[in-house]
Amino acid sequence: MESAEIRQRFLKFFEQRGHTVVPSASLLLDDPTLLFVNAGMVPFKPYFLGEAAPPYKTATSAQKVVRTLDIEEVGKTTRHASFFQMCGNFSFGDYFKEGAIPMAWELLTASVSDGGYGFPEEKLWVTVYEDDDEAEELWHKKVGVPRDRIQRRGQVDNFWSMGVPGPCGPCSEIYYDRGPEHGIDGGPVADEDRYLEVWNLVFMQFERGAGPGKENYPILGELPAKNIDTGMGLERMAALLQGVDNIYEIDTTRIILDKASALSGVKYGANEKTDVALRVVADHARTCAFLIVDGVVPGNEGRGYVLRRILRRVVRNMRLLGTNEPVMSELIDATIISMAPQYPELQSEANRIRTIAVNEEAAFLSTLKSGTTIFDTAVKQLKAAAQTTVPGEQVFQLHDTYGFPFDLTLEMAREAGLEVDETGFRSLMQEQRERAKADARARKSGLAAGTAYKEVMEQAGASKFVGYERVSAEARVGGLLVDGNSVQSAGPGSHVEVILDTTAFYAEAGGQLGDHGTITLDNGATLEVFDVQTPVPGLFIHRATVLDGEVNVGAGAIGTVDLARRMAISRAHTATHMIHKSFRELLGDTATQMGSENSPGRLRFDFPLAGAVPDDVMAEVEARVNTLLLDDLPVTAEYMSQEAARKIGAMALFGEKYGDEVRVVSVGDWARELCGGTHTPSTGHLGVVKFLSEGSIGAGVRRVEALVGSDAYSFLAKEHILVNRLADLVKARPEEMVERIEGLISKLKDAEKEIDKYRSANLRSNLGDLVHTSEVSGVVVRSVVLPDGSSANDLRVIVTELRGQVSAGAAGVVIGMTTADAKVSTVVAVNEVGIGLGLSAGQLLSGIAPAIDGRGGGKPDMAQGGGSNVAGIPIALGLVESLILDAVKK
Ligand code: SER
Repeated sequence: MESAEIRQRFLKFFEQRGHTVVPSASLLLDDPTLLFVNAGMVPFKPYFLGEAAPPYKTATSAQKVVRTLDIEEVGKTTRHASFFQMCGNFSFGDYFKEGAIPMAWELLTASVSDGGYGFPEEKLWVTVYEDDDEAEELWHKKVGVPRDRIQRRGQVDNFWSMGVPGPCGPCSEIYYDRGPEHGIDGGPVADEDRYLEVWNLVFMQFERGAGPGKENYPILGELPAKNIDTGMGLERMAALLQGVDNIYEIDTTRIILDKASALSGVKYGANEKTDVALRVVADHARTCAFLIVDGVVPGNEGRGYVLRRILRRVVRNMRLLGTNEPVMSELIDATIISMAPQYPELQSEANRIRTIAVNEEAAFLSTLKSGTTIFDTAVKQLKAAAQTTVPGEQVFQLHDTYGFPFDLTLEMAREAGLEVDETGFRSLMQEQRERAKADARARKSGLAAGTAYKEVMEQAGASKFVGYERVSAEARVGGLLVDGNSVQSAGPGSHVEVILDTTAFYAEAGGQLGDHGTITLDNGATLEVFDVQTPVPGLFIHRATVLDGEVNVGAGAIGTVDLARRMAISRAHTATHMIHKSFRELLGDTATQMGSENSPGRLRFDFPLAGAVPDDVMAEVEARVNTLLLDDLPVTAEYMSQEAARKIGAMALFGEKYGDEVRVVSVGDWARELCGGTHTPSTGHLGVVKFLSEGSIGAGVRRVEALVGSDAYSFLAKEHILVNRLADLVKARPEEMVERIEGLISKLKDAEKEIDKYRSANLRSNLGDLVHTSEVSGVVVRSVVLPDGSSANDLRVIVTELRGQVSAGAAGVVIGMTTADAKVSTVVAVNEVGIGLGLSAGQLLSGIAPAIDGRGGGKPDMAQGGGSNVAGIPIALGLVESLILDAVKK
């Protein structure tokens, strides 16, 4: 049975039983506790926690998931993957164990012709949580699983949470017995490779707090309702139903694995080591594509780092397979062939995915090159010092700075016949990990504040946002925080976080900055708002300073947004949509927004592109946008279903989270985007849009910045004044200026050349007076000190000429000095006969250098140097003679 069919059967089975089919969410959800969606239930977390009302009682989905905790296991076992798909059914206070258990059993064991997966009942085992008698009874009595195939396990195995604070509960897992050839008897507790877990049913009923590991955390309390969250690994099911040994050989992943094999020329099945590498490549290449399509860009921290690390592991494993050439482009293409039928965005975003992957690969390949050079130099030094071990610091530096995986260094060291100080390396890694942990602890204090916000939310309730229609609203102070603690009142000078039950203030989101403004209380107290955030969905936190009077929870208030600032931000936001649309029209889908910032009168817009945006494209986008400002297109916002939004061609940004009802902002009927931001009523309000810059902010990512409205006008007006002043200065009309300035520059260059010529000629005509000639032990010694300000070039030319003038057959040494900006330059030259006598310009120069507080050196015939002691020149000249004397005597 193909993967697509397995997925389809799952969704259909639950849809027929009243579940709403929910599409997979992006891997990046707005959850500060998670880097990536790591389970099918993550998008539903607010429903389990009671933070939001579920729009359906039951749901089913096939969710994309990324887990990197066990990344080292990928390829080595039959079942670990960094990316996989989880089919699940969910109940939000609807059915519980008595519903979930029989349904899972039915789907697994119903015959293929009846829409099931057709597993023989006697091959299935189940586990339940240690004290969950209820689940055991249901399995045994209602479903008919014999007691000897029901096993009990403790918290580590049968109590599920996301690994971070959130919903949790005991779980019951279903295993398939792959037969004695895969391991020992005894059920899942004895061998998890033979007994493969296929489905986990979580009885979600508690909320957990922070704590390490799978068992060391507190249970904070019960959830508002008893829920169900199940997860069936699509890839594992496919392995079983397709009769292959592991999840890398199933229909979809196999396509990528075969590509890796074709690229490297290494046959799958040749030996265990190369098989592991091929499986790692197949798994990781796919993960890269899915991370990129959802908006991750390679970087040095957070999500970007995970992508970077995974992509490097692909390159590394291809090297192990003997391929040093770029591979990402073809591996991404294979991933698209394998996965796009179920994830069409892979196809429509193919260019962007490929560009980012290929750029990152190129950067790593060049890093590998420089890292290899560093490594080779280190090896040379070690060998010269008769050492046999590469020190831990060097291995760590290669790892940390050049991204060298440890095993790469190890392998290279082995090739060079050296050992590696692994213990030293590990302890430096450990130190780094400790530092990272300390960072994470620091971040967690932010999470503590998260709990505080939740508490306030419970007391104060959600805020009603009226800022699309109004910029001022009457409200009640629902809550007050100072330093993260809930308080009842605060006096003048305090920094507070104020919750209002109704607010016109826009909270920072979707790249648009939060509003500023004032809050005035009924008692006359005033506050200045400098930022607005929503740390918990629906909760508006106004960060403010109390200017005057006392603010109290429960007091009446009026919140008024700084209108001029809001309008300037709205102009920037509307301009961003217009620029986005224009870039997409000209450059295609690759120019899809990756990030943006809309601040007063100014915007920033990031998108992926290999290489700079051509000047003509920048000019065309700017012209197009400004023309559409004159058309004064209406800008409107409408609410509709996601489906309707898609139909009218609204852009949805991957990586953003949207509800079922979305807000679509349209600029005329030209640019439509899902957006929660504020905008101008029509494009005419923007006045002018002017690009300021275009540049790179990372491999394959461009950033453009622009000014809008009066900020754009002021910028242009200032530039205009500047141009007029320059035109006055060069006495040309503005349109002739370029030609005029080019003319001036070339005249200036000619004049400089001319001056040089005169100076040299002048120097030469007076040279006779400057050169002193003497003879030391038969060597002709000529010294010259050029006038202050002469160039080092002149000095070299003159010294060389003077050397040429020493009569044939005689030994000659010439020493030249000059000064400029209180620094000495010196050149020493020795002719061939002199060299024959054992004289060396380089040695003479090093001999005299101390006199001028300088250094220098060179070859026997010519040496050059400098110093900082002008007063030492006569001494240096004197020294030359004694040095020659010494040298020739010997
Ligand atoms: N959340 C559970 C898991 O990830 C079941 O879906 O295993």
